Amino acid sequence: MPDLFSPYALKDVTLRNRIVMSPMTMYRSRDGLMNDFHVMLMGSRAAGGFGLVFPEQLAITPDGRTSASCAGIYDDAQIEGLARVTAIVKDMGATPAAQLGHTGRKGSEQKPWEGGAQLSPDHPDGWQVSGPSDVAYGGKANERVHALTVEEIGQIHRAYRDAAQRALEAGFEWLELHFAHGYLGASFFSPIANRRTDAYGGSLDNRMRFHIEALDAVREVWPERLPLSMRLGVDDLHEEGVHFEEALEAVRRMKAHGLDIADLSLGLNTPELQRRPFNDVAFMVERGARVRAEVGIPVGVSWNLGLPQVADRAIREEKIDLVLLGRPALANPHWPVWAARELGREDPFGLVPEDWGWWLRNFRGHAPSIGWPEPAGA
Ligand SMILES: Cc1cc2nc3c(=O)[nH]c(=O)nc-3n(C[C@H](O)[C@H](O)[C@H](O)COP(=O)(O)O)c2cc1C
Repeated sequence: MPDLFSPYALKDVTLRNRIVMSPMTMYRSRDGLMNDFHVMLMGSRAAGGFGLVFPEQLAITPDGRTSASCAGIYDDAQIEGLARVTAIVKDMGATPAAQLGHTGRKGSEQKPWEGGAQLSPDHPDGWQVSGPSDVAYGGKANERVHALTVEEIGQIHRAYRDAAQRALEAGFEWLELHFAHGYLGASFFSPIANRRTDAYGGSLDNRMRFHIEALDAVREVWPERLPLSMRLGVDDLHEEGVHFEEALEAVRRMKAHGLDIADLSLGLNTPELQRRPFNDVAFMVERGARVRAEVGIPVGVSWNLGLPQVADRAIREEKIDLVLLGRPALANPHWPVWAARELGREDPFGLVPEDWGWWLRNFRGHAPSIGWPEPAGA
């Protein structure tokens, strides 16, 4: 039976454990470039024992960023900063993953702590947002949306392909397409945002055509030996939006189309949610278990998995293959080491790099020497 710390092999990649730092947009880039901050953030999580480490969503075009301060992978000049991140992640024993994204009608945003409003195209940090249809997201994102033409959709898919090529050159070994959280892929999938009457709207096949074409585009350059994942918004938490059953069917079709692993999350295609599970522990795990069992594809999920016992149980019960941690990874760079101690695992300091793990193993002293209280169950 696997547990949180069992290695995980997919294609030619083996993760040292099942713990993933989930992608998190940090609003710390200039011109889409990664810098010392990103090397620090991802390097420290790799050193803290995470198996797979995602930097934030990387925009495939400048207007695919969340804000003007977000990272990109649309220019060859961005490869160097990304390569610094992959190098430190690998040096610390983890595997680097890239999440390619386009924020669609939710882009052109102010930083959240500056208000999070959507900026108009004539603002110096704003741009014209686009989507499947001219329907605004709502709430703070109410600027006019340009409905993409079929030709423009083709350009976006070429941008996905070029971004995948750059990800490979930067040293990433795992690639994910971000089609959740109300961004471009999610809005093509959702009847709330997608009112098209052409080949990209209407039936399930049509609403997932954008996804299938993106998979095909990145596979032109992303090697078969490396995993290809998709973060799919499987529930819009709204009657008129994406329902889980059709998302499950979509994953089945994508698996047949070369998807290696599904990363399930929420659609978030409207601010008018009819259900709000945000305080429920591990609320994506049961959906993950159904996709895993019924489609027969590996699955990772995030959302409220920060308690080690909860995360470990989801793996032991073979409901999901990978645990993605967002906020817990921000809160504690050493979450895996801490979790290993809490779960009573032998040699938790074996998870940090050998040269500093050596001190913690051989020069232990008593609990105050390390500064962490004894594990709750000890
Ligand atoms: C600050 C922050 C930024 C985020 N940015 C992204 C992102 O770039 N891409 C993405 O897929 N999810 C993003 N998310 C969602 C997380 O990856 C994760 O799915 C979510 O926080 C739920 O996991 P958690 O309960 O462990 O935090 C972000 C979350 C936070 C807190």
